[in-house]
Amino acid sequence: MKKILSVVVLSACALFTGLAQAEYVIKFSHVVTPTTPKGKAAQYFADQVNEKMAGKVRVEVFPNSQLYNDNKVMEAMRLASGNTGLMAAPSLSKFVKFSKKLQVFDIPFLFNDINDVHKLVDSPVVDEMIAPLEKKGIKALGFWDNGLKVFSINGDKPLLVTPQDFNGKKFRIQSSEVHEAMIKALGGTPQKLPFKEVYTALGQGVVDGQENAWSNIYSKKFYEVQSYITVSNHSYLGYLLVVSSEFWNSLPDDIRTELSAIIKDATMKGRVFAAEADSGDRQKIEEDKYAKVVDMTPEQRASFRAATSKVEDQFRDQIGADLLKKVHATIGH
Ligand code: LMR
Repeated sequence: MKKILSVVVLSACALFTGLAQAEYVIKFSHVVTPTTPKGKAAQYFADQVNEKMAGKVRVEVFPNSQLYNDNKVMEAMRLASGNTGLMAAPSLSKFVKFSKKLQVFDIPFLFNDINDVHKLVDSPVVDEMIAPLEKKGIKALGFWDNGLKVFSINGDKPLLVTPQDFNGKKFRIQSSEVHEAMIKALGGTPQKLPFKEVYTALGQGVVDGQENAWSNIYSKKFYEVQSYITVSNHSYLGYLLVVSSEFWNSLPDDIRTELSAIIKDATMKGRVFAAEADSGDRQKIEEDKYAKVVDMTPEQRASFRAATSKVEDQFRDQIGADLLKKVHATIGH
């Protein structure tokens, strides 16, 4: 009994000293598994901060929607106060409430590959897109990669090879109006669902298909309840690392500078994690043989692109025609 008591007291002391040691605590909430590009980048960021800034800042990571889902986290972030800040990296698609300009990232077939994405996020053009967030109390700290998305579907033939295959099918989408317009343009029915509900919704037939990056399809086992995956690479899944402006501005200058440097490092590391997952997770899915992976021919991709080309026009006013021009000029097409 005595032994148990002293263990409890010692652990409590260790916990207390740990807590007392850090001046600031950052809780990093995300919805994916620790093995995905975002999960790894978040953990890398935490490890670097906890090592290099011990005593000043401590980061705790909460994966798998343990703390909040993406829609709730933004509200919780703005309510957090004191020396504990809430950090998150929701997908860019989930920011429409805060900046309509960020809808650029959801436009189908805007990016040919990840290099196009990097040209844009490494340019000053993105400043215009994140400016509206500041007015809403959100500080954007970095663009984190996942990768281009592919479509998956449940059915008895290799679906989604032509846009007509969408007819009569229901697709889970993120809370993005652009995604909604894209699925409708293809003839399908979009259904917005939180990420943590996707596996069950696919498994129970609430929806027939979904679109996501390879790492999410693999780590959340979507491919086990889907029969085909079409390598459409039709649009981008990336993240915006955010914290409340109030918390960020309350940090002493030196802490902000150190954190910014670690964030930059984690952002670059994240690109490596994303590139690895892109090929690695596709391969693992193919090896597991649940869902058949179907590549698109250039002609099929062209007809896909043509079917969704009106989506950009639909959102031109919301995003801003000038901004769209700058985006195209930056990407080079
Ligand atoms: C999704 O909801 O499909 C993604 O945004 C999940 C994520 O964070 O990668």
